[in-house]
Amino acid sequence: YFVTSIGCVMIKSGGVIGRSWAMLFAGGGFQVKLYDIEQQQIRNALENIRKEMKLLEQAGALKGSLSAEEQLSLISGCPNIQEAVEGAMHIQECVPEDLELKKKIFAQLDSIVDDRVILSSSTSCLMPSKLFAGLVHVKQCIVAHPVNPPYYIPLIELVPHPETAPTTVDRTHALMKKIGQCPMRVQKEVAGFVLNRLQYAVISEAWRLVEEGIVSPSDLDLVMTEGLGMRYAFIGPLETMHLNAEGMLSYCDRYSEGMKHVLKTFGPIPEFSRATAEKVNQDMCVKVPDDPEHLAARRQWRDECLMRLAKLKSQVQPQ
Ligand code: NAI
Repeated sequence: YFVTSIGCVMIKSGGVIGRSWAMLFAGGGFQVKLYDIEQQQIRNALENIRKEMKLLEQAGALKGSLSAEEQLSLISGCPNIQEAVEGAMHIQECVPEDLELKKKIFAQLDSIVDDRVILSSSTSCLMPSKLFAGLVHVKQCIVAHPVNPPYYIPLIELVPHPETAPTTVDRTHALMKKIGQCPMRVQKEVAGFVLNRLQYAVISEAWRLVEEGIVSPSDLDLVMTEGLGMRYAFIGPLETMHLNAEGMLSYCDRYSEGMKHVLKTFGPIPEFSRATAEKVNQDMCVKVPDDPEHLAARRQWRDECLMRLAKLKSQVQPQ
């Protein structure tokens, strides 16, 4: 078999995200070193990855062309940060979402890395200009934001710092493609990047519709799973417009007045009040009680569905 022997260093391993990155990089044939401040987290992660990869292999859903054993042999734990970054071409930071902690880690990395390695953060909402401010190696810094669960949802948002070199963006884009993910470029940083801005727009209106008694929480979710979501796995909102008339221009001619009329009735940002949260929770718990076992079982079902959807997408859209 063929393994590209380039070190990919993971900063932290215990949580969902670090583990997923490790599996994705190993799937792409890269050597991975996991580093975490807690030794036990590294041991847990290695054990967990072994179990998960074996299951994925049995289900025929393991990514990449290597066997589970081959991929597992590429991943090792490393208790020392200096050793972990040695020879690395890409460092993916996945420590908790805390600006001061992440800044501390990047300052530490900044003092030990060379001019070639890419310093990448998994942050969901911290701004690159805040995270990477003042680093000597700022040109090599980027945010590569995955979507949970990353092994099943391929999108990666690439968000540069204003001083990030174009080659850093290009190299990270190429690496993400190589490991089978689907990178996209956010050209200028903005709060929430793109995915969460869209997601929050949907949540905000969903909340309002439920709060105003227009629809029940479970019926609201049906509108997505049986309606909008059916198409969104294949065509985005802009292509939907393009296809729902004779092209985008014709759609705007026909529907923009109607859209503006509806959009003007949207209200302010919801307060996410306790009362509404309890009402929504009650409805959600009918199908999925909010204890750890039921939630874990439902997540497993979700991952299985996403895996099948990925298979279907690869059949209908050869890449
Ligand atoms: P987590 O809390 O599960 O894992 C954090 C890990 O970092 C722990 O294993 C901890 O021991 C380790 N750690 C803490 N301080 C450290 C240090 N100084 N040096 C090395 N390791 C240290 O967090 P999770 O959920 O995996 O999230 C990590 C990052 O990924 C966050 O920035 C989060 O916003 C982002 N992210 C999370 C998503 C999610 O749905 N969980 C989705 C996309 C991005």
